[in-house]
Amino acid sequence: MKKVAIIYHSAHGHTEFIAEQILAGIATVPSVQADLLQAQALLKEPDALLEYDGFILGSSTYFGGVSAPFKAFMDATGPLWRHQRLRGRLAAGFSVSSLASGDKQSTLLSLFVFAMQHGLLWVGNPVLPEQLNGVPENEAANRLGSWSGLMAQAEKASPGHAFVPGDIKTARMFGVTFAKTLLRMQDATGHQGQEVA
Ligand SMILES: Cc1cc2nc3c(=O)[nH]c(=O)nc-3n(C[C@H](O)[C@H](O)[C@H](O)COP(=O)(O)O)c2cc1C
Repeated sequence: MKKVAIIYHSAHGHTEFIAEQILAGIATVPSVQADLLQAQALLKEPDALLEYDGFILGSSTYFGGVSAPFKAFMDATGPLWRHQRLRGRLAAGFSVSSLASGDKQSTLLSLFVFAMQHGLLWVGNPVLPEQLNGVPENEAANRLGSWSGLMAQAEKASPGHAFVPGDIKTARMFGVTFAKTLLRMQDATGHQGQEVA
């Protein structure tokens, strides 16, 4: 059984809702199990990450970057970075914001750089936007055209009503893609931490 941690910060529930959709996607893939972990809960015990084979990192976009609580989580992983203890595992990123763009790309880049500094292997969102093949835009997977990670746009409504069907579908597909990639890579990834000289 491979284990995935979906680590997120969500002040008002929208990013959490998308995290739950990713979880639902992963749950359809046999031999992969996922946990939802709030970034704040990991501040005091970042070593809890060591039991996972892959990480899906998610933050709402605040001023074109990760939220302060998510950044605090990132910074708390410094000792793990120092000894490269997460090296070779998989990572992916997602972000939720209220505007179609809203500079979510910038948030995804922060997550990507964080993953690279930890020696993680990045999994993207390899989906051709389905509206290009005639699917109505609100129902189309990857309608926002983001390949480097998952984007979702939250309207001003409660989390269960804030997303168009296409963004929910994309989130579930994203979970499936990550889980299947993890299974494909299981022989290639080594988890041996390596001391930095
Ligand atoms: C301080 C702050 C900064 C924000 N900056 C952006 C932004 O740069 N782009 C954007 O589209 N939305 C921005 N938003 C809106 C949030 O990304 C949006 O409300 C998101 O759904 C919040 O996620 P949550 O419900 O998981 O907390 C901002 C919200 C706050 C509170």
